[in-house]
Amino acid sequence: MSGQADEPLPVAALPVAALSEAQAQAAHRDLTALIEAHNRRYYVEDAPIVSDAEYDALFRRLVEIERRFPALATPESPTQRVGGAPGGGFGKITHSRPMLSLDNAFAEGDVLDFAARIRRFLGLALDVPLAIVAEPKIDGLSAALRYEKGHFVQGATRGDGRVGEDITANLRTLDDVPMRLKGDDVPEVIEIRGEVYMRRDEFALLNAAQAEAGKPLFANPRNAAAGSLRQLDTAVTAGRKLHFFAYAWGEASSLPADTHWAMLACFSRWGLVTNPLSEACPGIEAALALYRRLAAGRAGLAYEIDGVVYKVDRLDWQERLGHVSRSPRWAIAHKFPAEQVETLVEGIDIQVGRTGTLTPVARLRPARVGGVVVANATLHNEDEIARKDVRLGDSVLVQRAGDVIPQVVAVILAKRPPDARPFVMPARCPICGSHAVREVNPKTGKMEVARRCTGGLICAAQAVERLRHFVSRDAFDIEGLGEKQIRSFFAAGLVRGPADIFHLAAGERQAEPPLREREGWGEVSARKLFAAIDARRRIALERFIYALGIRHVGQANARLLALSYGTLERLLAAMADAAGREGAAYDELVAIDGIGPVLAGAILDFFAEPHNLAVVAALAREVTVEEAVPPAASSPLAGKVVVFTGTLTAMTRPEAKARAEALGAKVAGSVSARTDYVVAGADAGSKLAKAAAAGVTVLSEAEWLALAGL
Ligand code: IVH
Repeated sequence: MSGQADEPLPVAALPVAALSEAQAQAAHRDLTALIEAHNRRYYVEDAPIVSDAEYDALFRRLVEIERRFPALATPESPTQRVGGAPGGGFGKITHSRPMLSLDNAFAEGDVLDFAARIRRFLGLALDVPLAIVAEPKIDGLSAALRYEKGHFVQGATRGDGRVGEDITANLRTLDDVPMRLKGDDVPEVIEIRGEVYMRRDEFALLNAAQAEAGKPLFANPRNAAAGSLRQLDTAVTAGRKLHFFAYAWGEASSLPADTHWAMLACFSRWGLVTNPLSEACPGIEAALALYRRLAAGRAGLAYEIDGVVYKVDRLDWQERLGHVSRSPRWAIAHKFPAEQVETLVEGIDIQVGRTGTLTPVARLRPARVGGVVVANATLHNEDEIARKDVRLGDSVLVQRAGDVIPQVVAVILAKRPPDARPFVMPARCPICGSHAVREVNPKTGKMEVARRCTGGLICAAQAVERLRHFVSRDAFDIEGLGEKQIRSFFAAGLVRGPADIFHLAAGERQAEPPLREREGWGEVSARKLFAAIDARRRIALERFIYALGIRHVGQANARLLALSYGTLERLLAAMADAAGREGAAYDELVAIDGIGPVLAGAILDFFAEPHNLAVVAALAREVTVEEAVPPAASSPLAGKVVVFTGTLTAMTRPEAKARAEALGAKVAGSVSARTDYVVAGADAGSKLAKAAAAGVTVLSEAEWLALAGL
């Protein structure tokens, strides 16, 4: 054998610059394995075996290799997984398919209704089985994992369902999130959805560590999971044990199965974790049986669940069922009953809401219920207080379920102090001193349950509440402008109405002191706020309408109005024309499917108030309101108003309505001058006659199917 000098140096000792491509590949593979082992010991087992300096040296070498051979810097590389804190918050990700939430059922009857609704919608005879997948409802937070060619490329939070936050780096630290899916039936693109959660034991350990370090405790595992996932420093997320159950999907280039159950099986074959307690049920009864078993056994599970989710198993049926507003028709969450606890009413305060409603709130001796500490519970209104006869000093039963506001269920009369007096609602607004009155409903002639402050915009509570709503996430969504800032701007007289927000930057020159010198503000934060405000000078019509805070007009109704009128100008003109509550403009308003006379009344009341019109006009000078374009604008039905009448044979009426809406049409309940098509099934009645009289195009069912491309 020749001397040592002829032996090649071990690859690990070669400088990066001297590595051949093959050597680099091998070195990269070895280093990755080594670093991953160290990561595990450090973050998971909390028992590192190398010094920070040694670890850093390995990591630096890996970075150097990747710099020379960039192809090696795959998403799986540790350099991409555990990084430093990205600067300034998370990036935004628009979900290619919205992340829906679920409708809730509380009683078994609600669940049976759900099944019956589905049968009706699909036109299923009673002897056709309706297979259901029942899954534990994990109390965590949902996340979407995007895989391209089997590689994990992006992860996002749910956010508002349309836009979430980019938490890719943090999700990479979860053991349950595979960097690669394995199997030959993994679609080219698939976005896996599921729940990130923390186990109870890990939650307890985390809180013990928090307490030890003098840091605030998390209220429940769900909050702990959310707090851990939304860490800007990936290393912190990595140090907290988070898990992931896969239970749904979003965008998918193809689907390897035709039932939900078979999809779950694919998920687990691909290396994802699915919940082992989920069951394929032949019918709704079997699903309810699983609910009863889980309700009895939930306390013994390693993680918290707050109900059972039922899903229609057949994917073609899911497709047909579609979704309403924000939840699918093919699934429902059956919630477990709320936990109850006894505590003491230490005070009854009055809160004044955005619309001026006075709401009595019980201040409670803090008590743990449903996983959080509860210190307040709404008492709704004076009738409700009287009905339950809640008095200061009473012992009460309080309950809380999921995200629902805590409620006082009942008074424990046996424990009432002898001197407790019935509660009397104040006749004046505690904020502005204006009279607080119960209006008489003009239609029913009955007294409204709510007592309202008559102070309108002079009432600080209402103005601040209106402004808070105005800038909230689903409205103008102005980052950096929360309740605290609004309160202080309002108090300083800088912002009294929505339009003032858009003058903040301009008014800055005269403001004394300028924003950057106010407490809590600096040069950078002030500039950021002005930029965030400027970013909203273009706004979608539906957000604009929602932001106005019209009574009963939530997001769904705002969207209806936006799609029906298209532009702010048309909306305002129509509201003025409809003010008298009769005539064509009024008929059009109430003909919008989903807007009945009560809602129409609230909308018209709003637009009849001169000060509201002034607010809208002032705003319109500041912002450009975008025209609302119906979805699927390319479909021949986009923007058309369709009325169905008679019996259809190819599909049920609700299904026809859902189809039409999915193609961008508006479905109205009655024929008006704005109707584009009347679809006449068998035995069509008066609507057909009305259509003929109004000269509206009448389609046969076959013609409708052709037009809808079905
Ligand atoms: S399915 C379109 N399945 O519950 C289907 N959700 O209340 C969307 N959740 O946002 C969800 N466990 O965060 C589904 N097995 C499960 C679930 C589940 C927990 C959460 C999820 C969702 C929320 C709706």
